[in-house]
Amino acid sequence: MSQKIQIDQNRLFAELTKLSSFTHVEPSPDGTAVTRVVFTPDDLEARAWLRGIAEAEGFTVRVDPVGNTFFRMEGTDPSLPAVATGSHADAIPHAGMYDGTVGVIGGLEAMRALKQAGIRPKRAIETILFTSEEPTRFGIGCLGSRLMSGTLSPEKADALKDADDRTLAEVRTAAGFAGDLADVKLAPGHYSAFVELHIEQGPLLERAGEQIGIVTSIAAPASYRFQIQGLGGHAGALLMPDRRDALCAASELILSIERHALTIGTIDSVATVGTCDVYPGAVNSVPSRVALMLDIRDTDPARRDAIMAAVRADIMEIQTKRGVAISESLVNADAPATSSAAIVDALEAICLREGMLYRKMVSRAYHDTLFMASVAPVSMIFIPCRGGVSHRPDEFSTAEDIARGTLLLAEVLAKVGSD
Ligand code: GLV
Ligand code: MN
Ligand code: MN
Repeated sequence: MSQKIQIDQNRLFAELTKLSSFTHVEPSPDGTAVTRVVFTPDDLEARAWLRGIAEAEGFTVRVDPVGNTFFRMEGTDPSLPAVATGSHADAIPHAGMYDGTVGVIGGLEAMRALKQAGIRPKRAIETILFTSEEPTRFGIGCLGSRLMSGTLSPEKADALKDADDRTLAEVRTAAGFAGDLADVKLAPGHYSAFVELHIEQGPLLERAGEQIGIVTSIAAPASYRFQIQGLGGHAGALLMPDRRDALCAASELILSIERHALTIGTIDSVATVGTCDVYPGAVNSVPSRVALMLDIRDTDPARRDAIMAAVRADIMEIQTKRGVAISESLVNADAPATSSAAIVDALEAICLREGMLYRKMVSRAYHDTLFMASVAPVSMIFIPCRGGVSHRPDEFSTAEDIARGTLLLAEVLAKVGSD
């Protein structure tokens, strides 16, 4: 006999808090920051701790060659494809404690709550802990789900390098994740549905006093590396008219990106240069070389590409005017994802039944769901976060909001698990 699904809000919040303690400790002027970069000791300790929770509950654990980890609760009909949820536990430098982790702990809690309520759908349910959703270490986001969906080739993935020039192949093997990356790819039909729980990372739900966002699509992200090669020299002796300062050229490039995102783009267009390495990096030396990374996203990929085309025209001018060489290389340019109408309808029906205030919305941030969308019908559940703040130490969601999102997740997993 099954009972009503109940989320243990205290346990959920205590586990999120504990998970935030697996962090590279650094001084942070903003309070407690979480930094958990893929395959560092902090990440590996967090993974082991999460695995312990799942095993204590009797869930089976599978780990693939890139470290994606699958916590599984069997269904009554083993012949059917499972349904899945999950998110990431890696965190960018000086991040908060909710991005990604809410969907991992929330997924495990949803499975526990179903088990406790005596609900065993015919399909198995899995919570996936995705490897390296954040691009911090290898420059490309959603490493685990890209490989699962076949969007990134195993050879290219293994050749990716971190800032210390170590390849993914080297780093993952040293971290204990061996095997052929080709085995990460999921067979068609492996999952019948995928639903990710995540904080909104924007202000809309909080501003409107709404409790749940049902994600209908995810904006298309892209990222590029630029290298600007100029001429270095002595900061005192190299005369201004003779300079080919790479950082001055980089500054023009950054402003060009901002200008075109604002003028060609709409409110749905965003472009950010978030890294800038200056060589040789001495106060009394003219910068000879600069490396930048650009993150550019739009709900409309054609508009995103139009902004890039305008930037490229400016690059021609900057090169001539400043006597520098600017090279561009594409890291990724992904298509947007659309949610499954059936899952969106199911989420909406549960919100109406449970009296949850919701809206349908676009995700401007990317998530592993972007790639899971090419292998399964998907959607996402957003919960409010204070001030819309994310990727900052002061990121915050209330325990009530997290528990409500987790309840909706458990309900929808029970529903799609029975379809
Ligand atoms: C994910 O962290 C993103 O940058 O959207
Ligand atoms: Mn993030
Ligand atoms: Mn995230």
